[in-house]
Amino acid sequence: MSEIWAHRGARREAPENTLPAFELAVSQGADGVELDVQLSADGVVVVMHDESVDRTTDGNGPVVAHTLAQLQRLDASAGMAGFAGVQVPTLAATLDLLAPTGLKVDIELKNSEEDYPGLEEQVLAAIAAHDLADRVVLSSFNHYSLKKLQALGTTCELGMLYTDPLYKPWRYASRLGVGAIHPPARFILGGGWVRHAHAAGLAVRPWVVNSERALARMFRWGVEGVFTDVPAVAVAVRSAV
Ligand code: G3P
Ligand code: CA
Repeated sequence: MSEIWAHRGARREAPENTLPAFELAVSQGADGVELDVQLSADGVVVVMHDESVDRTTDGNGPVVAHTLAQLQRLDASAGMAGFAGVQVPTLAATLDLLAPTGLKVDIELKNSEEDYPGLEEQVLAAIAAHDLADRVVLSSFNHYSLKKLQALGTTCELGMLYTDPLYKPWRYASRLGVGAIHPPARFILGGGWVRHAHAAGLAVRPWVVNSERALARMFRWGVEGVFTDVPAVAVAVRSAV
């Protein structure tokens, strides 16, 4: 059965990458939560998607120009009613929340635009501190970062994110040595395409799948998981397929 991963939490109904969005994903029956991590100016792993705080908080400027204390004084509700004052969470606080739930966690390292020295080491330390290696997928668009995670000896599954229509991506992914490919949903060309990836030993998790029609198609094609902004919808569609 395909797993349902809440993309940045249940972000249609709560501010993305915040604890309320993750709590909502848990209560809506998601199998996993996807989140994005970066480093603050004082070297703390924080959960944010953009390299700038402008879109999702009432502040401005690069994430990396803010200390943790400065980030946590921002309102991360992104203007969503009912969530005023919600904070940017640390990865540690997020894993504190998710560890007892049994949900899986996809930690996306957002280090393609900004170089965050030591991010990989810190993420692995947080996973070890929470004893979550068997429930975590580590993903990145930065494939050098995936190689570094391998070199550091992680036992977490690695997910290869990409944005361009790669030809037979399972070949490149196999050489990279990852366990999963995470393509934009539109690059999955059918059930045969998924079977090729499976034959190469790879899990397939498309993003971001929100419409009922697209969700049903992905489930029928046998992907291992979908990243979705609407986990409750996905749960309902999956039970009807
Ligand atoms: O993991 C899939 C998805 O999160 C990648 O895109 O931009 O939402 O981080 P983005
Ligand atoms: Ca992401």
